[in-house]
Amino acid sequence: MLDPMAFDHAKREAIQRQALQILKENQRWSGAYRYTLPSAEHYPYQWLWDSCFHAIVYARFDPEMARAELTSLVSKQFADGMIPHIIYWTPGILHLFKWGVEGTSSLTQPPMIAYAAWELHRRAPDISFLESIYPALLSYYRFLVDKRDSRNHHLIGIINPDESGEDDSPRFDFPLGAKPDISYEDHLELRKKLVDENRTCDFDAEKCMRKYFWVKDVLFNTVMVENLRALGHIASLLKHGDGEHFANLNATLIAEAMREHMFEDGVYWSVAGWNYKKLRVATWMHFVPLFAGLYTSEEAEKVVRTHLTNTDTFSARYGIRTVSKREPSYLPGGFKNGFTWRGPVWMAPHWFMYHGLMRYGYSAEAEHIRDVSVELLLRSGFREHFNPETAEPGGAKNFTWGALVLDMFEE
Ligand code: GLC
Repeated sequence: MLDPMAFDHAKREAIQRQALQILKENQRWSGAYRYTLPSAEHYPYQWLWDSCFHAIVYARFDPEMARAELTSLVSKQFADGMIPHIIYWTPGILHLFKWGVEGTSSLTQPPMIAYAAWELHRRAPDISFLESIYPALLSYYRFLVDKRDSRNHHLIGIINPDESGEDDSPRFDFPLGAKPDISYEDHLELRKKLVDENRTCDFDAEKCMRKYFWVKDVLFNTVMVENLRALGHIASLLKHGDGEHFANLNATLIAEAMREHMFEDGVYWSVAGWNYKKLRVATWMHFVPLFAGLYTSEEAEKVVRTHLTNTDTFSARYGIRTVSKREPSYLPGGFKNGFTWRGPVWMAPHWFMYHGLMRYGYSAEAEHIRDVSVELLLRSGFREHFNPETAEPGGAKNFTWGALVLDMFEE
């Protein structure tokens, strides 16, 4: 008879083998810098939060590569502290967000760097590496706090949907001015126009991007809170009292502001405009605050029972939909028409939800997400996203995010 434990072990080994192989195949050198492409064919550059995910996985298997990945990521930091969301190490075709800036995009992405650096240190302690990367981290988070919260209300703004990491999520349709039946091409044009507008602002978003697009996103701000805490740990270890104070104070202020302006009907919503208009599109933003412990345990219980496990909205056969099935914008196999963040399952959201659920003690729900992720990867391959109803894969091939399941085992 098949021993289920041995079977699970074999599946885990198979996934680990494939994930580490893809990471290795996607590694590139540029001069002294070494980094990993999210997908060699589809995304032949270095991406900000992707590199943080890579570093989190490498922390377990190849700490030296994790250090290289983060070092190359901060190497193109702007003078004002911003870290760009794409580094075009080699010339190529996909220069969508490049205008006006040499060799990089002019946008940023969810700031997962401090978390990745701390996670790396936790698994493979190296004080001198932390010391070397600390100034870049501090100036990046200072940039976000100073330049992306110009009214000093403690919510960090993004100036383009792509800065959320979820380029075409329907929660941005209203502030973007996208009609419900917009085509993918027209949607992309609107996002590119925002980059042009930022150029007319001399890339000083604070100066005038508020006129065009300035959203306080749940994911970005949740990531800020948890990363500022990580920065606080790093600063404390390195005995940088001012940095520790900055990080911990702002983590608290952002968490409080999120509660005040984003929380309604038991869940968090991204907001836009001077009056914090809630962008009431039901997405996995309901769950990501678990990652930073932003719900009370009673609230978390309701979120899990009412939304996460609800098959009419978020819970599907192959994981958690990124957009509720009840939303008119829900597109489970969005890749057929270009859209990718209107419902499909992605591995990074699964990873955030896994850790959020674990934080609150929902280990059965978390392990279910992990197991279904393993099943998806074995069945459909390391692809960019998956139809939550059928497991049909879409988007980039040999996509690295599947490796995040290796960080869904508690050890
Ligand atoms: C897509 C995703 C974005 C990711 C990038 C590279 O644009 O939406 O989150 O960083 O691909 O993988």
